Amino acid sequence: MKRGVYRTYRPGYPPAVTNSERSFFGHPGGLAILFLTEMWERFGYYGMRALLILYLTAAAAEGGLAMSTADAGAVYALFTSLVYFLGLPGGWIADRYLGQRKAVLFGGVLIALGYFAMAVPSMVAFYAGLGLVIAGTGLLKPNISAIVGQLYAAEDERRDAGFSLFYMGINLGAFLGPLVCSWLGEKVDWRTGFAAAGVGMCVGILVYMAGQRRLGDAGLRAAPAERPESSTLQLRQLALGAVLGGVALAGVAAAWGLGWLVPTAESISNAFGVFLILLVLVFFAWLFRTGNWTPTERGRLWAIVALFVAAAFFWGAYEQAGSSLNLFARNATDRTIGGWEFPAGWFQWVPALFVILLAPVFAWLWTRLGSRQPSSPVKFSLGLLSVGAGFLVMVAASVRSAGGAKVGVGWLLATYFFHVVGELCLSPVGLSTVTKLAPARVTGLMMGVWFLAAAVGNYLGGRVAGMYETVSLPTLFGIVAGTTLLAGIVLALASPRVRRLMGGVR
Ligand code: PHE
Repeated sequence: MKRGVYRTYRPGYPPAVTNSERSFFGHPGGLAILFLTEMWERFGYYGMRALLILYLTAAAAEGGLAMSTADAGAVYALFTSLVYFLGLPGGWIADRYLGQRKAVLFGGVLIALGYFAMAVPSMVAFYAGLGLVIAGTGLLKPNISAIVGQLYAAEDERRDAGFSLFYMGINLGAFLGPLVCSWLGEKVDWRTGFAAAGVGMCVGILVYMAGQRRLGDAGLRAAPAERPESSTLQLRQLALGAVLGGVALAGVAAAWGLGWLVPTAESISNAFGVFLILLVLVFFAWLFRTGNWTPTERGRLWAIVALFVAAAFFWGAYEQAGSSLNLFARNATDRTIGGWEFPAGWFQWVPALFVILLAPVFAWLWTRLGSRQPSSPVKFSLGLLSVGAGFLVMVAASVRSAGGAKVGVGWLLATYFFHVVGELCLSPVGLSTVTKLAPARVTGLMMGVWFLAAAVGNYLGGRVAGMYETVSLPTLFGIVAGTTLLAGIVLALASPRVRRLMGGVR
């Protein structure tokens, strides 16, 4: 019997099978569309981010906003944190109302408008632009990842590899964005750099629109609830709270940008930090109380909590790439090659390049190790240890740069190498582990939780960067190194317990 000819139609048969006629490296064709869309979105984000703190702190004569590092760190922390924080309501809005497919499209449009607004020579437009990027990324980022997951049937073994390929798209964008935008922004004009980010996002939108058919019905409907009546109501209230909180915060940010709010950048950022921590506590408390979780589901939720804390610490160190390490590149690193000084932001594409080069090595390593490979909690612990090691390198570099000396490029390169090794232990595993650990009816929400960890981390990292001029650099980097190394050791010791909580998920 010829296979395929007598294929019977089964309702609800995974779209991965029906859409596989044009495949992408052996994956569903739709992955190519999501890969390119996310690549261009990240092109814009990392391109803009490479400029952000440099633009905020540059002197007025250089076209910058001439902020103090403390203020710039506060703005940067608030912005980069909100970008991922809004992934929480963004996931929920898609689950309940828009569907993931439309959420990605609307999000992309808001983001593109945001970058173009940042390119307009007006403070109101600049802050409105930041707000649009926050809202748009909240809609796009968690939902595009959720659609990737839906390209595969639950038991499809290609799923993890699919996420890895998607991660390549992210980093290809993160590589190209700073390359183009930093050069334009630092060497030509800041606003041209922001506009280039907007052009990138527009390309992403066009690819996404043209590729709709290849996505089949992934992301068109929310995952079917197993027990719809059990928890949706309370989850709805919870998520509504998150949306209202987000709106309130966006309002505060806008009022601040318009000068209606007298408090300083720092005090607003402080208030947001308190809010964020309270929200995380309330969120998890609510989550545990709200659903009629089975004991296995409950254990898995506890495992998510442990991984959440680890991820927040990890991103708190790692995401300083765009802030404190970007400042170190500008102020304390010798960037001349053949008499030409390359843009400070060019260091921003280094981690992405390392990811692209090292990801296949890690993929090979995990496959090679097979069932002997470390469990997710151990990988998370390795991630923390490695990012901590990277900051130890920065301690040495900053000691050498004391008194205004410029150090060689090797220091930041070595730091980023450690950071990326850490990232490859933690981030791709995290994305897929959280989706697997989450009870099916809250997958969308759990994607939001993964972004919440990134939000906490970005906040912490931004605030640390704000101390760049007030605390001596070896001390500052030393504290970051110490904290992450300690967290890594604690998690390593706790990993057998966490594994038991995971109830069979690796
Ligand atoms: N490099 C990752 C990305 O841009 C960083 C990240 C991790 C962002 C987790 C959000 C959440 O996707």
